[in-house]
Amino acid sequence: MRTTWLCGVVLLVCGVVWGQTAGSPSGTPQAGPATLEIDLTKPGAKSSPTLYGIMTEEINFSYDGGLYAELIRNRTLNDDPKGPVHWAGLGETALSIDTTTGPSAALPLSLKISSASGMMGAQNEGFWGIPVRGHTSYKASFYGKADGATGAVTLSLVNDATGKVAASAAVVGLRKEWKQYGVVLKTGALETTANNHFVISFARPGTAWVSLVSLFPPTYKDRVNGMRPDLMELLAGMHPTFLRFPGGNYLEGDHIPERYEWKKTIGALVDRPTHPSPWKYHSSDGVGLLEFLNWCEDLKMQPVLAVYAGYSMRQEHVAPGADLEPYVQDALDEIEYVTGPATSKWGAVRAQNGHPKPFALTYVEVGNEDFFDKSKSYDGRFAQYQAAIKKRYPNLKLIATTRVKGTTPDLIDDHYYKKAEEFYNDVRHYDKTSRDGSKIFVGEWATREGAPTPNFNAALGDSAWMTGMERNSDVILMHGYAPLLVNVNPGGMQWKTDLIGYDALRSYGSPSYYAQVMFAGKHGDEIPVTTLESANNRLFCSVTRDSGSGKLYVKVVNASANPQNVELKIRGANVRAEGILTTMTAESTTATNTIGDPKKIVPFTMRVANGGREMMQVFGGYSVNVLELDAK
Ligand code: AHR
Repeated sequence: MRTTWLCGVVLLVCGVVWGQTAGSPSGTPQAGPATLEIDLTKPGAKSSPTLYGIMTEEINFSYDGGLYAELIRNRTLNDDPKGPVHWAGLGETALSIDTTTGPSAALPLSLKISSASGMMGAQNEGFWGIPVRGHTSYKASFYGKADGATGAVTLSLVNDATGKVAASAAVVGLRKEWKQYGVVLKTGALETTANNHFVISFARPGTAWVSLVSLFPPTYKDRVNGMRPDLMELLAGMHPTFLRFPGGNYLEGDHIPERYEWKKTIGALVDRPTHPSPWKYHSSDGVGLLEFLNWCEDLKMQPVLAVYAGYSMRQEHVAPGADLEPYVQDALDEIEYVTGPATSKWGAVRAQNGHPKPFALTYVEVGNEDFFDKSKSYDGRFAQYQAAIKKRYPNLKLIATTRVKGTTPDLIDDHYYKKAEEFYNDVRHYDKTSRDGSKIFVGEWATREGAPTPNFNAALGDSAWMTGMERNSDVILMHGYAPLLVNVNPGGMQWKTDLIGYDALRSYGSPSYYAQVMFAGKHGDEIPVTTLESANNRLFCSVTRDSGSGKLYVKVVNASANPQNVELKIRGANVRAEGILTTMTAESTTATNTIGDPKKIVPFTMRVANGGREMMQVFGGYSVNVLELDAK
């Protein structure tokens, strides 16, 4: 965020700043100020400390070709049964998928590389290129075997345009049995580019097989099998308190055998069979259950664990009762893997996988969007999971994915994908929700305007909707924007309008991303009683207060074209004159950030000096604002 330190009467200054920006060409405030009364003499409701979090799944190349730092595409040859896509032979080398030999029972396929004479080798194009940076170490490894003496194997990073080798290292000749080999590739001084490929070449022609070919750059917090640092840093900037995983549709799969089977995603990569995802590309399962949990640990988020609940998206379901029992048991095992001591059966497996310490877990979600199940089996399925999980883990809070007959789940997961206008008309959605029933998890929501990432109008819709969620954050315990990530290369996107975009080298936050950053970063634990009067019908507000520090966070979204004067009247506290105003606006509502212009729209912060118990503040046309005041 840019910070501008402005002293003096900010009313005027803001008018000038906003006068230059979107939708407020004249900078003339609408007639008559609105009044926002904040009454701190009355007890406010408690706001959920876990309100802001992240929803994630494998979609839009979120992990493979995204957050997961692996740079080799189709490393286990599962992407396309028709041939070794994303691989090419060097010279006259012939490449094929060999279905008769692989490095493990889980990975029965391999890349067969053969050449009768001359050069022999294969190259991988990565996920729309392989990013190579100067003075950097890359860990390269593969499983391989050879039929005869193909000699030393050289692994290299090669520039597509110049053919120049950025780094290379060799291993001794392959044996007749499968074995893993590894080297470190170190680059020297060079210009950073994603226009590179990875080469595996052999000293002599013949026949060799490779699989699980892997190339890792440095990862976030140096995790082995870890995540891309730039994306993790963007996520950390959202101040997320939880991670909902593994989906979404990705949890369910199109068909029951294609569901997310957590037991097949743990342990050594060579023992993970990988699986087809409903988003039309194959998942490497490099981000398996433990990687999700490590991700939580690294960003200090609590896991919101979604367990498969017997429904897959092509209207396939498992009938409640005996048929469902193995699936329920699988969920109990999964919870034990996450939370059990290292002495428990599945806790011991977790310890063996490298994490002896149990993870804290409060929320378990049973399924995903089960209102799509036309057989209406969810009432029975949920009841069965609820009985089994609560019996063994009475303190866990269960999230149902739709209303359930015969029981009041701890939480219900509601999803909203709308246009900005629809969100404006629905900001009061939860104002009258019963405070005695299930709590709410808005587990997926987004204003779907703009692609691949949202435009500024979407950020306005999102922000308006967030004011409604904040005002009701005594009953809405958590919410998460979806989808979170998109690879912006052609073919990378399966779902339009995603919060964060990237290619192999670069990444950026959309205006909606910055709205999340602004809102989540300044969020109190109390919701004071407020009254807004005489505002334009596109002005949305929420106010929270930090009971410890007395900080008051006033969020104002002006989704109309004209600036709006707001008279703030704060009762029951002394308010310091100095405050901090963070604001985001744009040259037009369709303006947006892109991979080439990643910071066109970002919030900027200025100091205001006209605060006090009664103050007048102007909020620019088409703007998102967070005003921070000291109110003790
Ligand atoms: O966020 C994209 C998809 O939308 C999710 O996978 C699914 O739960 C919802 O329908």
